[in-house]
Amino acid sequence: MSWPAVRLCTGTSMPLLGLGTWKARENECYQAVKTALNMGYRLIDTAESYENEKEIGQALRENFAAGLKREEVFVTTKLWLTRFHPDDVLPACQRSLSNLGLDYLDLYLMHCPVAWARGDNLYPVDDNGLPVTLDIHYMETWKAMEKLVDAGLVKAIGVSNFNISQTKEVLTNGRIKPVVNQVESHPYVGCHWLLEYCRANDIVVTAYCPLARPGSKEAKDHGVDMLLQDPVIVEISKKHGKTPAQVCLKWQVQRNVVVVPKSVNPARIQENSQLFDFELSEDDMSAINQLDRNARVVWFLRCKTHPHWPFGEEF
Ligand SMILES: NC(=O)c1ccc[n+]([C@@H]2O[C@H](COP(=O)([O-])OP(=O)(O)OC[C@H]3O[C@@H](n4cnc5c(N)ncnc54)[C@H](OP(=O)(O)O)[C@@H]3O)[C@@H](O)[C@H]2O)c1
Repeated sequence: MSWPAVRLCTGTSMPLLGLGTWKARENECYQAVKTALNMGYRLIDTAESYENEKEIGQALRENFAAGLKREEVFVTTKLWLTRFHPDDVLPACQRSLSNLGLDYLDLYLMHCPVAWARGDNLYPVDDNGLPVTLDIHYMETWKAMEKLVDAGLVKAIGVSNFNISQTKEVLTNGRIKPVVNQVESHPYVGCHWLLEYCRANDIVVTAYCPLARPGSKEAKDHGVDMLLQDPVIVEISKKHGKTPAQVCLKWQVQRNVVVVPKSVNPARIQENSQLFDFELSEDDMSAINQLDRNARVVWFLRCKTHPHWPFGEEF
């Protein structure tokens, strides 16, 4: 049985649940993707900056050889901030395609609205350790992204970490509409306004860090590391005989938000997939909605002074 999907404004469908792969490297990434595909995952989320596209490509290739059809799997990757100069967009996309061993991407996202200095150093910094930025407006990059659709290299394009004003600008001034905005979302950052805006404009929201990256230093630093121990989440999970992680993920898919939890652990990859045999009640949904406190794991704080830093506006 295939898992539920959302319809994109291009008419194709995107699974509501996928595997996140940030920090999954080399063999553990390859194994995680193989495990996930065998369990029924049909959406894989990666990015040039995760440096694991080749391992994902290998896992996909083997599954294609074993009978999985290309059109049965949805692959998202992202254009990194050092590739935002319009001349760099096509080569970056071609490199990702080659790494993944694919002849088209299902979805290509601009990773963030802030451009960094061109070159192969993914994290260019100055003497003070601050990112060296590039004076390129994201609309210039977007126009180069549109050409990838024209060329048939990508089925759809979208954005990531764009706030409402920035999403609106792409929608208003772009020739091709962004189909997805991928943003951090979990019960502590519900993105209720962004979701309302995106729904009204037929843009699908994908939630990254849907578990608030449990146990990470970033989650602790920003006070979101207790999400899976939150009494509201724990009580709802006990009521349904589910885990707190499953409740956080179910809350997203039940409001038609795509989730891409990352795991390289087979038991947790499976746990995160067991979402489609229970329903949260309206009271459960509203209790979780009320946990929103605009508390996120990812702030791109080193870009805070950049004019396009997205998090000055509440999502
Ligand atoms: N667009 C962007 O800017 C952006 C930013 C961040 C992330 N992302 C995407 O979103 C994906 C998910 O975000 P994330 O990886 O940052 O955070 P996350 O999915 O919220 O959390 C991942 C962490 O949770 C653990 N975990 C997984 N399932 C669990 C469960 N059921 N119970 C307890 N712990 C569990 C994982 O460990 P194990 O691996 O050991 O299970 C891993 O340490 C990324 O992998 C990436 O694909 C996009």
